Amino acid sequence: MSSVLVTGASGVAGREVSRRLAAAGHRVRRADVMPSPDPADAGIGEFVRCDTRTPTDVLEAVEGCDAVVHLAAWHNAHRPGVSDATIFAVNVDGTFNVVQACRATGVRSVVFASSMAYGWGSVYSVTKVLGEDLWKMYQETTGASVALLRYHGFVPEPYLRWGERLLRNGVDVRDIATATVAATEAAIAHRFDLFRTIVHSDHGMPEEVRADFAARGVEWSESRMPGAAELIERHGLALPDTVEQHDLSEAADLLDWRPEHDFIEFLTDLQRRETAGEDVTALWAPGRIPA
Ligand SMILES: NC(=O)c1ccc[n+]([C@@H]2O[C@H](COP(=O)([O-])OP(=O)(O)OC[C@H]3O[C@@H](n4cnc5c(N)ncnc54)[C@H](O)[C@@H]3O)[C@@H](O)[C@H]2O)c1
Repeated sequence: MSSVLVTGASGVAGREVSRRLAAAGHRVRRADVMPSPDPADAGIGEFVRCDTRTPTDVLEAVEGCDAVVHLAAWHNAHRPGVSDATIFAVNVDGTFNVVQACRATGVRSVVFASSMAYGWGSVYSVTKVLGEDLWKMYQETTGASVALLRYHGFVPEPYLRWGERLLRNGVDVRDIATATVAATEAAIAHRFDLFRTIVHSDHGMPEEVRADFAARGVEWSESRMPGAAELIERHGLALPDTVEQHDLSEAADLLDWRPEHDFIEFLTDLQRRETAGEDVTALWAPGRIPA
């Protein structure tokens, strides 16, 4: 059993990751500026109130942990939004403080939540560039195992919108969590020095369907799930022209991780809920939480 600190543990990814790490037998310490909104999470492990912008908070949170999963950040989907200055302070200064605390306490295993937004298009995007660079520096100067996970989008949405989004670079938070746990365990086993991967859905679509989903998507969906065409039509699901797919084979080889939740599973779930008489317009992703 390893002791794992999860920062941002009260957030969407943090709650799912913390639950799954605990279920896998790890001792979990959850750090966040606020406790989880779900009282059931109190049973997962110790909660420490920690603002990553405050070095002493971070040092106390990291102390005694073998591994750190650093998720705490602000991103652009929050409504109302936060200022770029706050995004920068939490995502960059906060990450720097976590790096320094890991160095001070000798942490050898790290997973960092990066993003497909990685780039130079916004302050948030740049914070992920700087975050990845800080962790690369940590890896090079300490020899620790560091995984940089570039997540696709998993912001909760109304159920039907979320289903559509799976085809538009959306990923189920359960896949985010299994990838993060797999990366944590691989880092603890020191299966890599520096490992970077995209975390994305895989719909198992042939290339010709992905490249022309507008024309071939409905027929392909129907071939995978009888009744799909009618569901798509009735709910007015907006299908993209093309579906992006990344090569996830390195993550499969090194982490033994594959995404499990896809568009056809969503349609199957939608059909089941309708048959059971549920009002699917009142649900949020992935279909469990009343709006
Ligand atoms: N949600 C997405 O679609 C998405 C996509 C790509 C990458 N990511 C990244 O994944 C990670 C988790 O995202 P999420 O959607 O679960 O975010 P979230 O907003 O649901 O959770 C973030 C958590 O961080 C906490 N936090 C904020 N400031 C803090 C501080 N100063 N100190 C400690 N904790 C603080 C918040 O209280 C919150 O609980 C983030 O790093 C985010 O940038 C998210």
